[in-house]
Amino acid sequence: MHGRQLSTLENIIIVSSPDNDEEVNDIVSWAATHDIDVSKVDVGAPITEDHVDKTQTTVGVTVGGDGTFLEGARAFAAHQIPVLGVNAGTLAFLARVNKGDIDAALTEVFRGRASVNTRQQYRATAGDIDTTGINEVFLRKHPPEERYGTKVGTLHLFIDDEYVGEYFGSGLIISTPTGSTGRAYSNGGPIHYPQENRTLQIVPHETISAAVDPIVVSRNADIRVVLEDSFDMDIDGGRQFHELQSGTAVRITGANQPVQAIRTSYDDPFITALVDKLDWGLREVSDDGPRSALTSATADESVDFRTRAVRLAKEAAESAGEPLRELHGQVENVEYKTDKSDIVTEADYQANDIIRTAINSEFPGHAVQSEENDDVEPTDGYAWLIDPLDGTGNFAHGNPNYCVSIALLEDGVPIVGVVYAPEPNDMYHAVSGGGAYQNGRPIEPTTRDQLDESMLLSGYDPDGDFLQAFYQETQGVRRLGSAALHLAYVAAGSADAIWEYDTRPWDMAAGLCLLREAGGQATDQHGDPYELRLDLDGSTRTPLLASNTLLHDQLLARLETADI
Ligand code: IPD
Ligand code: CA
Ligand code: CA
Repeated sequence: MHGRQLSTLENIIIVSSPDNDEEVNDIVSWAATHDIDVSKVDVGAPITEDHVDKTQTTVGVTVGGDGTFLEGARAFAAHQIPVLGVNAGTLAFLARVNKGDIDAALTEVFRGRASVNTRQQYRATAGDIDTTGINEVFLRKHPPEERYGTKVGTLHLFIDDEYVGEYFGSGLIISTPTGSTGRAYSNGGPIHYPQENRTLQIVPHETISAAVDPIVVSRNADIRVVLEDSFDMDIDGGRQFHELQSGTAVRITGANQPVQAIRTSYDDPFITALVDKLDWGLREVSDDGPRSALTSATADESVDFRTRAVRLAKEAAESAGEPLRELHGQVENVEYKTDKSDIVTEADYQANDIIRTAINSEFPGHAVQSEENDDVEPTDGYAWLIDPLDGTGNFAHGNPNYCVSIALLEDGVPIVGVVYAPEPNDMYHAVSGGGAYQNGRPIEPTTRDQLDESMLLSGYDPDGDFLQAFYQETQGVRRLGSAALHLAYVAAGSADAIWEYDTRPWDMAAGLCLLREAGGQATDQHGDPYELRLDLDGSTRTPLLASNTLLHDQLLARLETADI
C-alpha cells in the first residue's frame, strides 16, 4: 500500500494492551473530529471479518510496547491492513510513535503524508505447529533436568535441501530483517536494514563449533532444521513457546503476507533508533536535524514546486493503481455475483477519490478536474486534470492496457504529466522543460522517417477512415484502447504516431506533456498546434495527430488526400 492512499482513511482498528486508556481515548477523539470509525480489540483477541470492511480504507493502530505491535502487526497482516505502532511502554523499538505525538502522527497519515513499508514475516511449522511471526524463531536447547546437565545440543541445518551442516551449541536463531536487531544481533548477526528487505538470516546461538558465520537467505528459501536433541521453539520473544522432541524437523520460510508498517515523521528513522536503543556507534543523534527522512521528503515546502507536483502525481497514480489492480483481477470472475460494470464504476470511483484527496492534501488551493466530475472548465492558475481510469473498455474485459492519467495545468497548459499503467507497473512522467521518462529513464520518440516502415496507433476512428488510409501504407495500425497510453507510447518510441478523430482533455493532458517533452509533435488534422480544449461544448471536434515529428508532414499530407 502507498501512504498517499491513507488519505482516504475511514476506519481505525485499535489493538491495545491493558491500561492504555489515555492513549486509546486520544485516538478515539481524534477519529471523532475527522469523522472516522473506530473499533477496539484487546491484544491477543482475533481481528475478524466483523472489524474489517474491505470497502473502507482501514488503518490498524497498536497501543502498547513492541509485544503489542508484533501481535497486532501479525493480525493486521492477515487482512492486509497497514499498522501504526504507538508506544505506551518504556523501551519500544517497533512501536515508534510516542504518546504525545499521537494526534500529529494520525493527522500526517490522514493527509497521505506517511509512508508504508512492507516488513517480511516468516512462517514456521513443526508437527502440528503452524505459525507466523515478524521477528525470529529461536531454537534453544531444552534446559537439563539436573543443574549440571548439558545445556548444548546438536541441530542439522538444510537450505533448499542442501545440507549445510551440524550446529553444536545452545541453539539457532532464524530471524527476519525486523528481528535482526534483537537476539540475532547480540549473537553476532548482521543488522538488516528492514525496509523492503525480504530475506531471512540464520545465526548460531552460542555455538561451540568454530568458524560458523550467519547465513542470509531469500524469503523463498526452505530452511529445515532437524533436531538431534530436545529444543524449545520460542516465537517472537515468547509470543508462543513449544517444547520439541529430538527428531523433530522445523521448517521456516518467508510468509506470503508481509506486515505493512506505517512510518510517519514522528517516529525515528531506523539508524536513529539504533543509535538511541542500541548505542549504534558510528554517529550521534542530532537534536536539531530532521528526525526522519520523511520530514524532508514530503513536507519540505522549499522543494521546487514542480518537483513536488510531479512527485505527488506519481505517488497518487501509484496509490490509485493499487485498487485498480485488485479490481482488475476480479473483473473476469464476477458475473455470477454482480455486474462487471459495478466493478468498473467502483474502480473509477476509488481511483478518482484517492487522486483527488492526495492533491487536495498537498495543494489545497488547486482546482482538481476529472473525467468523473462535470466541472471541467478553463481555470486560471494551477488546475489538475485527471482521468482516474483511461481504457475502461479494456479494464472491463480484463485486458491490461489501461492507465491512470494525471496532469497539472498552468493557465490551461500541461506542465506536469504522469501516465501510470498499473499492470506492467510502467510509470511515465514529464515536467515541462525537464524531459520525459519511463520508470526513471529518459525517453524519446522513434527516428523513423519512412511511412512504410512505421507502426501507427489509432484511437477514436468512428468510420475506420484512418485505418483504411494507412493500413496498407505502413507496417500496421493498432487500436489499443487507451488514448493516454497511446501518447505515452509515441513519446517513448513504442509506436511512431497516433490519430484520434476527436479527443477529450482528460485523456490528452498528461500524455501531451510527455510527448512534447520527449520531442514529439501534436497538431490537429491541418497541422495547426493541438490545443487542450476545456470548454467542452460538444459541437466542434478536437482531432489529434501526434507523431515522432519526422513523419508528421507525410501523415498530414496523407490525411488530406484521404479527406479525413
Ligand atoms: C477512452 C479511451 C479510448 C478513447 C476514447 C476515450 P475511457 O477513455 O481513452 O482509447 O478512444 O475517446 O473516451 O472512457 O476509457 O476513460
Ligand atoms: Ca479516458
Ligand atoms: Ca476514464
